[in-house]
Amino acid sequence: MLKVVVCGALGRMGGTVAKLVSEASDLELVGGVDVRAGTVLGKEVVPADQIDRFLAEKKPDILVDFTVAAAAVENVKAAARHQVAAVVGTTGLTPKQREEMKRAAEASVPAVITSNFSVGVNIFWFLVREAAKKLGDYDIEVLEAHHRNKKDAPSGTAKTILEILDAEVGARPKLYGREGMMERGKEIGVHVIRGGDIVGEHTVLFAGNQECIELSHRAQDRSVFAMGALRAVRWVKGKQPGVYTMADVLNLHPK
Ligand SMILES: NC(=O)c1ccc[n+]([C@@H]2O[C@H](COP(=O)([O-])OP(=O)(O)OC[C@H]3O[C@@H](n4cnc5c(N)ncnc54)[C@H](O)[C@@H]3O)[C@@H](O)[C@H]2O)c1
Repeated sequence: MLKVVVCGALGRMGGTVAKLVSEASDLELVGGVDVRAGTVLGKEVVPADQIDRFLAEKKPDILVDFTVAAAAVENVKAAARHQVAAVVGTTGLTPKQREEMKRAAEASVPAVITSNFSVGVNIFWFLVREAAKKLGDYDIEVLEAHHRNKKDAPSGTAKTILEILDAEVGARPKLYGREGMMERGKEIGVHVIRGGDIVGEHTVLFAGNQECIELSHRAQDRSVFAMGALRAVRWVKGKQPGVYTMADVLNLHPK
């Protein structure tokens, strides 16, 4: 039985992960951490300032984090202090926060950190990379849509797409939305939609003369992220200290 603690347990993703953990026969939900005390599926949720006491008492194998950027950094540091492996899905991290989180994990625990746990999105990133290798001379646009409550924009998933494109076609200027008169240059256009209960949609458009290739992924339920996070939970236990991605979990690195 792997013992799991969920940070952000009272939130949308944390609640979904907690539910799937409690339903899995090989996993045990030992409790949660959030900004305020409460319960999740009958297990104690403690406020963030009690995380050290809680980890020392519950001795989880894995800490899952779906919170906010600043909290995620502190939670990974706490996991490292208590030798607890980490699975982090929180997005909106600044480069400095990402570096701080990596440094905390690398020194002492294995951590899977990804902006998107969906298996489909990880395959989608792989396909975007392969397409970009061959279509560097096409115009490229990135579009994403999410529910009205999402705070960070563009999404972490879209930022990962931009990193993949930079790596494959060379760093190009990014243009976030267009208005007014302008020439199309070498930029990558990035377009963000927020509304309703859209779970998560991403498209990369490669436009050439007389033809377009459009790669899209649509998540229909947030349980796809939670199911991916559970795959990471099962995989990360016992790995060497360091930072891993879902490409490691799913063995998606190019051969
Ligand atoms: N990687 C992925 O696959 C994936 C998928 C969906 C969402 N996300 C990201 O996960 C994060 C959470 O998304 P959500 O939709 O569940 O948001 P949410 O607002 O519903 O939940 C966040 C929870 O974190 C709690 N929280 C805030 N500060 C905290 C702290 N210091 N300690 C513990 N808990 C704290 C909040 O009270 C809230 O309950 C966002 O960054 C989102 O972009 C990632």
